Amino acid sequence: MANVTVIGAQWGDEGKGKLVDWLSNRADVVVRFQGGHNAGHTLVVGNQTYKLSLLPSGVVQGKLSIIGNGVVVDPWHLVEEIAKLGGQGVNITPDLLVLADNACLILPLHRDLDQAREAAATNKIGTTGRGIGPAYEDKVGRRAIRVADLADRDALEAKIDRLLAHHAPLRRGLGLPEADPARLLADVEAIAPRILPYAQPAWRLLDEVVKSGKRVLFEGAQGALLDVDHGTYPFVTSSNTVAGQAAAGSGLGPKGPGYVLGIVKAYTTRVGEGPFPAELFDEDGRRLGERGHEFGTVTGRARRCGWFDAALVRQSVALNGIEGVALTKLDVLDGFSTLKICTGYRLGEREVDHLPAGLKEQAALTPVFEELEGWSESTQGARSWRDLPAAAVKYVRRVEELIGAPVVLLSTSPERDDTIMMRDPFQD
Ligand code: IMP
Repeated sequence: MANVTVIGAQWGDEGKGKLVDWLSNRADVVVRFQGGHNAGHTLVVGNQTYKLSLLPSGVVQGKLSIIGNGVVVDPWHLVEEIAKLGGQGVNITPDLLVLADNACLILPLHRDLDQAREAAATNKIGTTGRGIGPAYEDKVGRRAIRVADLADRDALEAKIDRLLAHHAPLRRGLGLPEADPARLLADVEAIAPRILPYAQPAWRLLDEVVKSGKRVLFEGAQGALLDVDHGTYPFVTSSNTVAGQAAAGSGLGPKGPGYVLGIVKAYTTRVGEGPFPAELFDEDGRRLGERGHEFGTVTGRARRCGWFDAALVRQSVALNGIEGVALTKLDVLDGFSTLKICTGYRLGEREVDHLPAGLKEQAALTPVFEELEGWSESTQGARSWRDLPAAAVKYVRRVEELIGAPVVLLSTSPERDDTIMMRDPFQD
């Protein structure tokens, strides 16, 4: 099966948007399978920049785009994002966009809860404040409002009452005003006709698409180290971000996701709180942030920066079954005389080759670095392997060796065409 799943192999912001946009040219269908509008995918096409949070990146290429059941959907945001893209000349119709009818909704009360909890917490997670966590809590608590519920007014009223019965004491405890069920019902009813035209059983459509031999691209959001099971818990997002979720979050069987392509940035960044062993607090870190424009697409927060952590990515390769890697932002390393790669950690007297699960151990890790020679030439915009300086090729080769996966794509600028392909993931 010639499907490809793209996932972030670090803490998100690896440059997935551009790669998904580039690969969606080769795909027939693009599917989001987890997360919500906490994601921020930037696509640069010619002189236009598109910023997507919830819509699959394939919409910009006019490819059939599916928001799967594993995604939590803020319907007001969805309508806004559709309108924004419309203003940039991308006309999104129900022929182009399909929303799984069994996806759960993010409501204003989820955003309230997310933000009030973060404001009150002494141990903040640094969430995007968009209600993602509370919406997933209601999903597994079996009291969420789902897309299909928008079509059934009577059931909707009872569901809202049930949901508010759960939220009322939480809101009270956080000093939030009481939620008004009539107002929520009216708001949800008002948005329903703008959402329902896109809703259908997405699993069935996907089944047909795959059986007819079409090629599907699964677009992961965030990164493997933010996975609710495998990431740096509790400093994680509330969904499974690993490649395995592409199956459950879309309704396709376990073989459906196909070839797993990990997106890996040539150094490491993280937004929000949580452990980050290879983090830099010096001039090198500031320089990476400045050259890499490391500011969050969704929140505008400055991202924390550090050297490439090969131990983390090696872990990610195993967790996701990554078969090949797309390495991004190599050009940000241009001009450093010396580069460092974190190859593992020290924990007291011991050497560790992975991120331990315990928070206390994670916080006590000190990185073990290996030094490599830098390069002074520019790699920005390189379109062939031969355009790269020898030291840059050496860096890439060492990365491959340490993480145990080949670099099959190299992205050398935000521009769609500045991509070097060693192997076509759709042909593997
Ligand atoms: P939440 O997903 O808003 O609950 O935030 C939980 C954690 O995931 C925080 O550390 C966020 O900064 C991080 N996060 C969520 N979405 C993204 C993303 O798209 N890129 C990078 N970090 C993210």
